[in-house]
Amino acid sequence: MQITSGGLELREFGPRDAPQVAAFVRARDLTALPPGPPQAVADVDGWLAETQQRRLDGAGVLLAMVEAASGEIVGSIGLRDTDWRAGRSEIGYGVLASQRGRGHASEAARAVGRWALTEGGMRRIQLRARVDNVASVRVAENAGYQREGTLRMADWDGEKGHDLAVFSMIATDL
Ligand SMILES: CC(C)(COP(=O)(O)OP(=O)(O)OC[C@H]1O[C@@H](n2cnc3c(N)ncnc32)[C@H](O)[C@@H]1OP(=O)(O)O)[C@@H](O)C(=O)NCCC(=O)NCCS
Repeated sequence: MQITSGGLELREFGPRDAPQVAAFVRARDLTALPPGPPQAVADVDGWLAETQQRRLDGAGVLLAMVEAASGEIVGSIGLRDTDWRAGRSEIGYGVLASQRGRGHASEAARAVGRWALTEGGMRRIQLRARVDNVASVRVAENAGYQREGTLRMADWDGEKGHDLAVFSMIATDL
């Protein structure tokens, strides 16, 4: 799967990404990678294989956000917790700290939502963000997701609970 949108290419992580992912691990800057990134360079190949297995298992997809002009990975975006019967999946994203504020996440969240509701055959793409994660809430709004409400105390950071804002995109929003 590959989506081109704006200046971004959104495509699956694969073996060709090993050098760049290893560079993130060496620099201890994992902000471009999704939750559960490799912790050591020796783990990179196995991690890349696991990301592909996620699609093969039907759980979702994990895509690299690649700046088309440079070929550099600037972030990641994925669909997870996919319910094929209901046609529902959940979107998540992250951008390399040094690349934030350039519209990458908004562009990618719009493009992946659109892809999922058309070619991907989904009926609903859900997005949840902590209400105090202002950047993520803005991304959802910029990308055209509709805010549906608040899941009170639905997130736990290990010390305290947080409210989550719930957004969704359905075909009629496109
Ligand atoms: C959330 C995140 C993905 C946004 O990525 P990004 O590429 O910088 O996003 P964009 O440039 O498309 O848009 C960011 C928006 O947030 C706004 N923003 C960023 N930081 C902000 C802050 N501290 N306060 C208020 N608004 C802020 C920007 O102004 C922009 O909104 P605008 O277009 O209305 O001006 C990035 O900050 C990130 O990786 N955060 C850590 C991981 C994370 O929180 N993921 C989401 C989990 S739900």
